[in-house]
Amino acid sequence: MQVGIVGGTGALGRGLARRWALAGVDVLVGSRDANRARAAAEQLAEELADELDEAGGRLDGVDNLDAATAEVVVLAVPWDGLDAVLAPLTEALAGRVVVSAINPLAFDAAGPHNTPVAEGSVAEAIAARLPGARLTAAFHSVSSRELNRLEHPLDDDVPVVGDDEEAVATVVDLAGRIDGVRAYAAGPLRLSAPLEQLTALIISINKRHRGHAGLRFTRLTPR
Ligand SMILES: NC(=O)c1ccc[n+]([C@@H]2O[C@H](COP(=O)([O-])OP(=O)(O)OC[C@H]3O[C@@H](n4cnc5c(N)ncnc54)[C@H](OP(=O)(O)O)[C@@H]3O)[C@@H](O)[C@H]2O)c1
Repeated sequence: MQVGIVGGTGALGRGLARRWALAGVDVLVGSRDANRARAAAEQLAEELADELDEAGGRLDGVDNLDAATAEVVVLAVPWDGLDAVLAPLTEALAGRVVVSAINPLAFDAAGPHNTPVAEGSVAEAIAARLPGARLTAAFHSVSSRELNRLEHPLDDDVPVVGDDEEAVATVVDLAGRIDGVRAYAAGPLRLSAPLEQLTALIISINKRHRGHAGLRFTRLTPR
């Protein structure tokens, strides 16, 4: 399996890249700047050195356009920069399994909150901009802090939504390769809004209680 991460130099992108490379997945770490991507991929590969040899995963730094040629492409950029990032990738992403991890998050004096999105959710806004892509949404509340702390497995549910069941199954498989993640299909893309919006609540809870909580649905055995 090969995954491309658009915005792979960021906190979430690096965390996912680390975890997937250690699970034997080939990762294309993407950036607007190929040099920055190469530097990030080299740094990650150096840090993981011996474990990476054993796991068999690869880490390569490329520009976002090359990252968008992978079998599965994760969008891990901020919501407010998205249009400029997507425009040059539209053709490359046609027919591809794409995962939006993007939250419409904003912060003010009262803490985190959600920016309204005209299409209903960020994922639906992306679907409107990328009609050819096999769009899914996942990872919204998986903490980059936890992903980057390799000494601990995660302890998170990753519900995956999307209208293309095969694409959802691919993303469920990919997410489930991360140690400690329980991934499962959760419904159509229109349910991406609550997944995206939950993140502000989780951050608020964590701030108030100085915690690092993620998402877990109780009394569930995914099929
Ligand atoms: N951090 C988390 O724990 C977490 C968890 C779940 C979901 N998310 C979501 O995942 C996305 C990425 O989060 P993050 O914390 O990794 O973000 P980030 O570190 O701020 O940004 C990720 C990468 O996106 C690129 N980028 C930054 N600003 C941009 C802009 N205005 N236009 C285009 N590209 C830009 C940068 O890469 P280059 O400069 O190299 O191009 C940056 O390294 C967000 O939408 C967030 O809501 C984050």
